[in-house]
Amino acid sequence: MLMTCNVYRKMRFSIHVFCKMYKKLGFLYMSSGKVLSMSSLPSLFALDVDQFDTPKILKKLTVAGRALAELKGVAASIPNQGILINALVLQEAKDSSEIENIVTTHDELFKDELVLEDAMHPATKEVLRYRQALRLGYSRVRETGLITANAIADIQAELERNSAGFRKLPGTTLKNQDGLTVYTPPQDPIEIVQLMGDLERFINEEDSFAADPLIKMALIHHQFESIHPFYDGNGRTGRILNVLYLVQQGLMDTPVLYLSSYIVRNKANYYRLLQQVREEGAWGDWVLYMLEAVEQTAGHTMSTIHEIKRTLFDYKHRIRAEFKFYSQDLINNLFMHPYTKIDYLQRDLQVSRLTATKYLDALAEGGFLVKQKVGRSSYYVNTALTSVLTQSLP
Ligand SMILES: Nc1ncnc2c1ncn2[C@@H]1O[C@H](COP(=O)(O)OP(=O)(O)O)[C@@H](O)[C@H]1O
Ligand SMILES: [Mg+2]
Repeated sequence: MLMTCNVYRKMRFSIHVFCKMYKKLGFLYMSSGKVLSMSSLPSLFALDVDQFDTPKILKKLTVAGRALAELKGVAASIPNQGILINALVLQEAKDSSEIENIVTTHDELFKDELVLEDAMHPATKEVLRYRQALRLGYSRVRETGLITANAIADIQAELERNSAGFRKLPGTTLKNQDGLTVYTPPQDPIEIVQLMGDLERFINEEDSFAADPLIKMALIHHQFESIHPFYDGNGRTGRILNVLYLVQQGLMDTPVLYLSSYIVRNKANYYRLLQQVREEGAWGDWVLYMLEAVEQTAGHTMSTIHEIKRTLFDYKHRIRAEFKFYSQDLINNLFMHPYTKIDYLQRDLQVSRLTATKYLDALAEGGFLVKQKVGRSSYYVNTALTSVLTQSLP
């Protein structure tokens, strides 16, 4: 009897440990070595980290890492970081939205605050919200150093202007172009919350998964898209997370590296590889795709930054030589707003409306700006800057 009791107690203890492990890891290893998922989606912690130690991945990691480090340096060499963030974020907002078939033009975007929100094209509004969401996420990461599930929900809420939060009702499926369901993400609201908690730990617990941050970024993006926690906005929120993760990991000081320009040009592979990880466990190919995206976009962003810098210094020197009213604040205004207007200049330079008008008209006459009309008011286009920002990518 006593023995039975001890066995029982031991068994109960083992069951307790076993359940704790089960809860913590969210999966079970069967004796066959197969992973049995507690949920329909295994935790990233269950991945074998050694599978990424292949010569191909290591080589790509070195090249992408080097490009990123170089970009970090080039970005830091711009005197006013606001100019850079403003210019590059808009391009990312445009590209990332385009992946989801939300298409707008640079012209509409640059007009931004010049146009009343009601008069804006819905796609433009949506793209500008992407920029807002990104800014919100960036300030959260800077404040807390963390990327939490709550912060992710706030980013999506800002993007969608709706506070539905994580999915509570079943029915969300991912379909291909022919309307066939290719993937059904977890449907149970409790499971979604658990999976997001698990992902939060994966993102923020530095030592729990010993892989390079660039590899982890690729894994996080995949897992986030697989959880697909929201009714909508998962693709765009997931792409915002990529750059926030780079900032959180100290690989970037400011959010300037954006992968969407690569993804939008290699969209078929993006969808194919997202799916192949699930169907064939093709993690290596997925990681290589994301590293290639880092390498290419870092290279392209560097040349864009060089061009912005060159244009900025050119304007600065020529305006300083030609106009008595030159000031650094004036240059900053012209580069913070690819399309500027009298009110902005009045505000930024603390001058009267008449003076601001005089300055802008003189700059337009000097060929630095092109004056245009919206309704009854005028705006002034920094054509040198807009041509840098709109030139087509390789
Ligand atoms: N087979 C797939 N597996 C996982 N994620 C996928 C798959 N196919 C597409 N996705 C992701 O889903 C995103 C689209 O989800 P959605 O919620 O509509 O985002 P958004 O509203 O930003 O368009 C895609 O951008 C991609 O990241
Ligand atoms: Mg969508």
